[in-house]
Amino acid sequence: MTSQSVELLFRPLAFGATTLRNRIVMGPMTRRRSPGGVPGANVAAYYRRRAAGGVGLVVTEGTYIDHPGASAYANVPHFFGAESLAGWADVLAGVHAEGAAMIPQLWHVGGLRERGMAPDPQVPGYGPCEVAKDGILTVKAMNQADMAEIAQSYGRGARAARETGFDGVAVHAAHGYLIDQFFWEATNRRQDEYAGSIENRCRFAVQVLETIRHEVGPDFPIVFRFSQWKQNDYEARIARTPDELGIILRTLVAAGVDVFDVSARRFWLPAFAGSDLCLAGWTRRLSGKPVIAVGSVGLDQPHQSKVYRRPDNVDAKVTDIGTVLERMSQGDFDLVAVARAILADAQWPEKIRRGAYDEITPFTHAAMEAYE
Ligand SMILES: Cc1cc2nc3c(=O)[nH]c(=O)nc-3n(C[C@H](O)[C@H](O)[C@H](O)COP(=O)(O)O)c2cc1C
Repeated sequence: MTSQSVELLFRPLAFGATTLRNRIVMGPMTRRRSPGGVPGANVAAYYRRRAAGGVGLVVTEGTYIDHPGASAYANVPHFFGAESLAGWADVLAGVHAEGAAMIPQLWHVGGLRERGMAPDPQVPGYGPCEVAKDGILTVKAMNQADMAEIAQSYGRGARAARETGFDGVAVHAAHGYLIDQFFWEATNRRQDEYAGSIENRCRFAVQVLETIRHEVGPDFPIVFRFSQWKQNDYEARIARTPDELGIILRTLVAAGVDVFDVSARRFWLPAFAGSDLCLAGWTRRLSGKPVIAVGSVGLDQPHQSKVYRRPDNVDAKVTDIGTVLERMSQGDFDLVAVARAILADAQWPEKIRRGAYDEITPFTHAAMEAYE
């Protein structure tokens, strides 16, 4: 175990108009328990239990914005419409009552949607490039009007977050979904000013961020999640070098990002050859903004996005948080997001504070199936 005190994790941090009570973030996790896109009492109880367990900031599961092509999976909550937003207001009230802050993660799946999917099978996916199967267009290559429409849809979601009383907004630009499809050369083979150079591949993200900033005003925190890895390619890279990463980050900061949520599968691994610095550490150094690190905090096996839809063994054992404390004390990041460990054990933050590792429930497939 490390010589660093666990109290490092429990220092408050200013966040927009509020103050987080500690540096532990509940990472966004799709749970698909919201029929018709409406989060109900079970969803409110699930989040409230985790706020009561001591997290400082809750990031909701990905929530669909109001663009017709945003969705691909059933029972994912919406972040639009009176009924869904009223459901979210109840969720938020419970989380606030337990002393945690909360932000919704706005999600558009992009080309991972295909024509034929619910709710309207006639609506294709929307992505940087066209995809056709058996001569039928399943994903539409976005034109300028689509980009403006989708940016406005993100803007409406962010405005709804502010009007509902959330403490900020999170943008899902990771894991191979829409915004990431523009970042990544393998999915962005356009011939126009949205492809090619790094600045061009950031152009759609910038449009989204500027629209959100316009809608929420200057003081409402925008948390931006990006990743090198994609759900179908763990070795993928959007930045091959620190210089490339620096261009991306400076571009996004100029467009309005306040906090970067740096999604890795193991947060501590070196991001680039020749340095031990992890991706969160590079991001903090190059952007000058507060950074959330994420990936296998408190667990001995990394997240396997590819296998969650299959019944493979995804069990992981509890580990200590010595590396988190060491890296945090070095100034590599400001906050740490914990996903599976908090899914498995809502009391994880309080148990960590007490050093009660033997009381922590490990992550298992059963934890994924349960919803409490
Ligand atoms: C069941 C499950 C659902 C997830 N859903 C989302 C999501 O909706 N949005 C997102 O950005 N990441 C999602 N993730 C990724 C997590 O937020 C996190 O980055 C990843 O699990 C690594 O953190 P961990 O090792 O603490 O679990 C999900 C992970 C799991 C296990």
